[in-house]
Amino acid sequence: MPAHIGIIMDGNGRWARKRALPRSAGHSAGAKAFKEIARYANRIGLRYLTVYAFSTENWKRPPEEVANIMNILRDYLKNTESFKEENIQVRFVGDIGVLDQDIIDLILKAESDSKNATGLQLNIALNYGGRDEILHAVKGLMREAKEGKAEPDQLDETMFSNRLYTYGQPDPDLIIRPSGEYRLSNFMIWQSAYAEFWFSDILWPDFKPKHLDEAIAAYQSRDRRYGGV
Ligand code: FPP
Repeated sequence: MPAHIGIIMDGNGRWARKRALPRSAGHSAGAKAFKEIARYANRIGLRYLTVYAFSTENWKRPPEEVANIMNILRDYLKNTESFKEENIQVRFVGDIGVLDQDIIDLILKAESDSKNATGLQLNIALNYGGRDEILHAVKGLMREAKEGKAEPDQLDETMFSNRLYTYGQPDPDLIIRPSGEYRLSNFMIWQSAYAEFWFSDILWPDFKPKHLDEAIAAYQSRDRRYGGV
């Protein structure tokens, strides 16, 4: 069983277009798929799941689409009871400081309400970019070095990893990208150095637990050598 799975939830827009629906309908359907997959991942005992909900590049979308995704998130976060019921611990990864204050408050409440949950650790990547995350870590280290609190020659991979939003968590073993695209799009670029990848043509709103099972089965048949033989 992989310890940590990352999912790039892609294809909401195309799913909606195929049905002659607005893109917002695709995102709502995508959110539904997300909730089902998070619940299922928890049930099968997955330890960590990171989903890519909104990237640092997604601000380029039309303002009404950005507002729509943020509203979906608001609705989701207003129902933190469901985390409690399901024993899911939630963490937001990304630069959340620039979001609307009410969303920041909801995020902090969701994180604090779920902090003692012992089931799945669910990371929601929001205003997240892998390069942005690395720069954030480097800036912190540079500041400390300038103040004489960090020694450049002592920096190692573990120390660096502990500066990332995913501090304290294992690197993803498996990254899933549906919708027929074959790229990482700035998702966990440091953490995925040795991840296995699973791609599929399914559009995210159509992604079902059986597809997660398929991806995990594919992962289990891989031979991970980490550069060894
Ligand atoms: C990519 O599909 C999807 C997004 C940028 C948004 C993903 C957001 C959700 C699934 C809702 C998340 C909700 C919660 C509660 C975490 P796309 O729009 O790029 O699809 P396309 O490539 O077909 O246009």
